[in-house]
Amino acid sequence: MCGIVGYIGNRDSKSILIDGLKKLEYRGYDSAGIAVYTNRGLEVKKAKGRLAVLEEELDTNPIEGTIGIGHTRWATHGKPSNENSHPHLDPSQKFSVVHNGIIENYVTLKEELIAKGHEFTSETDTEVIAHLISDLYEGDIVRAVQKAVDRMRGAYALAVLCEDEPDKLIAVRLASPLIIGIGEGESYIGSDIPAILEHTRDVYILNDGEMAILTKDEVTLQDVNGNQIQKDVFHVDWDIVTAEKAGFDHFMLKEIYDQPTAYRDTMGSRISGENDQVVLNEIKMTDEEIKSIDRVHIVACGTAYHAGLVGKNVIEKLARIPVETDVASEYRYRSPIITKNTLVIVVSQSGETADTLAALREAKRQGARVIAITNVVGSSVSREADDVITTWAGPEIAVASTKAYTSQLIAFYLFGLYLAQKLDTVEADEVKKVIAALQELPQQVESILEQAEQIKTVAEKISLHNNLFFIGRGLDFSVVLEGSLKLKEISYIHSEAYAAGELKHGTLALIEEGIPVIALATQEDVFEKTVSNIEEVVARGAYVLGVNQEGNEELAKVVNESFTIPRTLDVLSPALSVIPLQLLSYFASLARGNDVDKPRNLAKSVTVE
Ligand code: F6R
Repeated sequence: MCGIVGYIGNRDSKSILIDGLKKLEYRGYDSAGIAVYTNRGLEVKKAKGRLAVLEEELDTNPIEGTIGIGHTRWATHGKPSNENSHPHLDPSQKFSVVHNGIIENYVTLKEELIAKGHEFTSETDTEVIAHLISDLYEGDIVRAVQKAVDRMRGAYALAVLCEDEPDKLIAVRLASPLIIGIGEGESYIGSDIPAILEHTRDVYILNDGEMAILTKDEVTLQDVNGNQIQKDVFHVDWDIVTAEKAGFDHFMLKEIYDQPTAYRDTMGSRISGENDQVVLNEIKMTDEEIKSIDRVHIVACGTAYHAGLVGKNVIEKLARIPVETDVASEYRYRSPIITKNTLVIVVSQSGETADTLAALREAKRQGARVIAITNVVGSSVSREADDVITTWAGPEIAVASTKAYTSQLIAFYLFGLYLAQKLDTVEADEVKKVIAALQELPQQVESILEQAEQIKTVAEKISLHNNLFFIGRGLDFSVVLEGSLKLKEISYIHSEAYAAGELKHGTLALIEEGIPVIALATQEDVFEKTVSNIEEVVARGAYVLGVNQEGNEELAKVVNESFTIPRTLDVLSPALSVIPLQLLSYFASLARGNDVDKPRNLAKSVTVE
């Protein structure tokens, strides 16, 4: 999500850090900062806004030194502001930390430190790390970091600089990428290869639980318990553009593969340790207010709207509250019935979509409580909503939304379960079962991604057509709407998504020999009926790709190509079944020679109505 860079050597660290951060800015930014060991001690400069703001500040008030760490931030805990920017310091201002990831138990750690007299100046989980290290420091920074990470739960890539030991930098990783660059008389830290590629192509790629101690002359690797480890040096032969995409050909493909991490991060600390409860501290509604909700409106645009369609099903099923869904550009103009007991949920990756923002304002004007599901902390939508559920998908760069959509699904699952717990609409055992299945999703997505080649073969065939259909029932219908949108926007193939049972009421007339039909049949309760609808198109010569849950061999017998997703609860299947559809669009677009990441006529963030 955020970007980290670190340098130790003989050159001016400030310009190396700033250049490194520039290479990471494409990943998202809302603030940036650097900490440098100067002849006055440890000095930090940070600023909200683009990196250029920090550069101006450094031009006016330069800091000079040959060892430093830097960070470009994409806000998670705490809004974008100077105080929340990294690097963070401890109260003695001797320990400086930059961090990517999320510390799940930071509230507990913060309370402990406050009880010991620590005062905090930011809302971030990262500041807690700096305080914790200083609290545990007994003259050995390596040991203090080891002890601190032993206390931390969550995901982190950390770089630490200690004023009393200015001949070294410490880097440590758990579930958030971190690499160490090896130079001649200098060493580097980067959260991503582009940050340091200009200076070295020889790197160590840290694994979870590994730590590096960097001096200008050498890099020592150990595990977090202090045992020395050996690693092969990885020689990077990518150019800078390939490096930005982490070696993937396109941002869209990278973002499709980011999804297991995005699922894990979005669930993060919101599932309690015992796995039997969803905790949404960000929802400030009282139990009374939750009980008084008599209807929910979900409002969004495009892909976010499609996530809302799944959200409707999830909330109605788990919380038994009636839900209406609206595309935001229509919502205000249909005189929606909004009362003080209406909960409006707006969904927006960017948090800046003009139609969604206008709908939010209208809902608030009419007295509704508004919850935002958004991927951008500090966005307009997040600032104006009453409560915000942030999806921690990280910056999404490809115009076609993938990981933001699936993270929105995860947010809906969490919120549906949260309501069910508060309203007592689902037995505790059942909640536990859904949570357990939810936690299996990231690994299940990984196994689908391993079968990408199978989807590629089908995509190459359908890329030769100009029209196709997607069909499905129930939740599958919501997912095929998204599959069809994705295909249209990047492959420019015309497609329509239909409720499978509705096809025979007119559209079946368009089914002719060879026309591709993508059929989802993951919902057990309507499986047989969906298969009957699939047979209707097969009988008319359609070329059908069927997708269903593994362990059911029936679909494969009637379709031309079949793809199975790992078995999950029916309500959770959209978080898996959309993955092959994303891959299908990607490979079809590729086969047609399109600009996958920047489709024609479209913009990533639509700020006009
Ligand atoms: C399609 C896509 C768009 C967006 C829509 C809303 O891949 O990305 O349909 O979902 O423009 O954008 P946000 O979520 O930023 O409000």
